[in-house]
Amino acid sequence: MAQKDKIKWNKKYKETPSLLEKKEPSKKLTQILHKVKGKKALDVASGAGRNSIYLALNGFEVEAIDISQIALDELDKKAFQNITCKLVDLDEYEVPKNSYDLIIMANFLDRDLIPKLSAGLKKGGILFIETYMHDKINEKPPSNPDFLLQKDELKSFFDNQFEILDYDEFENEDYELFRMKKQSIEIKKL
Ligand SMILES: C[S@@+](CC[C@H](N)C(=O)[O-])C[C@H]1O[C@@H](n2cnc3c(N)ncnc32)[C@H](O)[C@@H]1O
Repeated sequence: MAQKDKIKWNKKYKETPSLLEKKEPSKKLTQILHKVKGKKALDVASGAGRNSIYLALNGFEVEAIDISQIALDELDKKAFQNITCKLVDLDEYEVPKNSYDLIIMANFLDRDLIPKLSAGLKKGGILFIETYMHDKINEKPPSNPDFLLQKDELKSFFDNQFEILDYDEFENEDYELFRMKKQSIEIKKL
């Protein structure tokens, strides 16, 4: 287990319970659902599951995976029949191959994981990633600059077995605590 991540995130959720409160889903995610052909989804580093909940309400069977039991308990409490919560360490987790119609990873960055997520898609499946990037507007960059993407970086992970459906760099949504620049990509496995 990435014991350090587990301790860090459980501490954050304990000290700042507002992180567990019901939040809006990613706006970009809400705009792409109509392109997804099937209903099996994976929410990577789900936290308390704002995006899992949105997917469940839209008829998806969702696996929500995270290293924080506190965050997963909060999601479990909501008792959605079509969300399965799994406590996993993404440093070690083997994503099942060719299994999902939709995989999402929001506000979390693990570069080594991206090829595993691509492999987890069924043919025609969609991977959506959205997280923070370096920019001078950032009001609160993380302590570790490696957790921020470089300009255009998300595009560099995909070869011609994938089609890029959308790529964007944009300012985060108003409900987030600090103004930050984000990057998103939506790719389809061919
Ligand atoms: C900023 S939250 C993002 C939550 C959610 N994706 C969202 O957009 O609201 C980052 C999440 O990553 C999880 N996390 C951090 N390291 C992890 C690891 N090694 N394995 C699994 N989850 C991890 C944390 O527990 C936390 O819930």
